[in-house]
Amino acid sequence: MVKIAPSILAADFGKLDEEVRSVEKAGADLLHIDVMDGHFVPNITVGVPIVASIKGKTSLPLDVHLMVSSPERFIKAFAEAGSDYLTVHVEIRSRLGKLIDAIHKLGVKAGLSINPETSVVRLEPFLKEIDIALLMSVEPGFGGQVFIPEVIYKIRELREKIERKNLTTSIEVDGGVNKETAGELISAGADILVAGTAIFGRKNRRGAIKALRGK
Ligand code: DX5
Ligand code: ZN
Repeated sequence: MVKIAPSILAADFGKLDEEVRSVEKAGADLLHIDVMDGHFVPNITVGVPIVASIKGKTSLPLDVHLMVSSPERFIKAFAEAGSDYLTVHVEIRSRLGKLIDAIHKLGVKAGLSINPETSVVRLEPFLKEIDIALLMSVEPGFGGQVFIPEVIYKIRELREKIERKNLTTSIEVDGGVNKETAGELISAGADILVAGTAIFGRKNRRGAIKALRGK
């Protein structure tokens, strides 16, 4: 079954504890935390202390999405704060192979993400090494944007490559995911759906998560 990762970017930060507990109780599989540095993307969000604080309050695996230019400077701190997954972008200048290795050495699962205009081909050399391939279906930086449908072709293309190579890499999709777009993403081969607005924007969290699974 597809996994659902609520993105806390759309949560009420004034009562983050309660928000996290609500999605855990409602059947979420992972908790997606968007870290932005105001450089890789034109926005700033949360950092290490928030990850550490959430870690103490939930048993959901923490899926930390690093939209930062130099993640090598921060991965150790994010690992120590309790991240279960650390995902970095291929569009940064850092040496990706080295970075993925370093994440694994910290005992954390590694993800690699591509922006909407970046080709799946850029992920290919690392597919065997990474645990998650994160396909952005909006320009990274803000929640609540409109889904870019071209990602569906990328999911299919990536699914094919993963099957062909007999790999276990999970395909995660992030941005503008809602009950209207989820079905097509799942049939194209997505394993994990990230959703901010479509979950935290609704009072009935259980209903919202169920709707994304299509049942
Ligand atoms: C965007 C973030 C997303 C965002 C998704 O840069 O990576 O995780 O929170 O929000 P929605 O689901 O509202 O598009
Ligand atoms: Zn994200």
